[in-house]
Amino acid sequence: MTAKSAAAQSRIGDRAAFGFRDVPTADKQRLVDDVFRKVAARYDLMNDLMSGGLHRAWKDAMVAWLGPPRRSSVPFSVLDVAGGTGDIAFRIADRSEGALLTVADINGDMLAVGRERGAECRMSDRISFVEANAETLPFDAGRFDAVTIAFGIRNVPRIDAALAEAFRVLKPGGRFLCLEFSAVDVAILDKVYELYSFNVIPMIGSWVVGDSEPYRYLVESIRKFPNQARFAAMIERAGFARVAVRNLSGGIAAMHSGWKL
Ligand SMILES: C[S@@+](CC[C@H](N)C(=O)[O-])C[C@H]1O[C@@H](n2cnc3c(N)ncnc32)[C@H](O)[C@@H]1O
Repeated sequence: MTAKSAAAQSRIGDRAAFGFRDVPTADKQRLVDDVFRKVAARYDLMNDLMSGGLHRAWKDAMVAWLGPPRRSSVPFSVLDVAGGTGDIAFRIADRSEGALLTVADINGDMLAVGRERGAECRMSDRISFVEANAETLPFDAGRFDAVTIAFGIRNVPRIDAALAEAFRVLKPGGRFLCLEFSAVDVAILDKVYELYSFNVIPMIGSWVVGDSEPYRYLVESIRKFPNQARFAAMIERAGFARVAVRNLSGGIAAMHSGWKL
């Protein structure tokens, strides 16, 4: 399959996948925003419950692969797109004294939780939270050393536009790193994961958030997202070089890395 047809998998003409529903692309963002508005207050707790804490190990793996300098004379500037409550930004800040972080997210409720966390752990001077759409970032070209996005890209209606923006705002020599749910490539694990995702996750959502629908969307959106190879092709098409993929937990999640060379 070509990169073009991979892109078409999540965006067909002016239609986009919202979970298993095919909706006008222009409507998808509003539907996604409703999901994250509903879950924002309990988002971090739900992540722990749904993944049994695994999302922490995956996020640690992403930051380890990014390898931000522990100390540097000039700030290492990172943009975390769809950064929500700031999980990736806090990890990078912990690991790298010289890192300056910008968390961009379209949802003010998610950012509010992140800002509160930043104030609590006295990180507000190093992490700024900006309400912004991944498809039209309000930053100058060539501004960041690295752009990260964790569990965000599959929610964006125009994935190709978000990848193009990540490329634009990176400095030449900058790195793009994406963590996202992906395609399980281990026999039996895929069946267990399927059963767990469609039955247990919406039930936990119903108990904790009082609504199973946001979590049904989450599970469905994972199934609709391009697999490792298809997504790698999309990243290459956006202009990135040396694109590499690493699976986590048998492909339940995967990290994609690319460079602006
Ligand atoms: C599953 S959360 C991930 C949050 C965080 N990166 C993490 O790993 O915990 C997905 C985030 O994507 C954000 N999002 C969805 N569409 C977006 C868009 N077009 N631009 C920026 N952020 C978007 C949502 O508001 C939400 O905060």
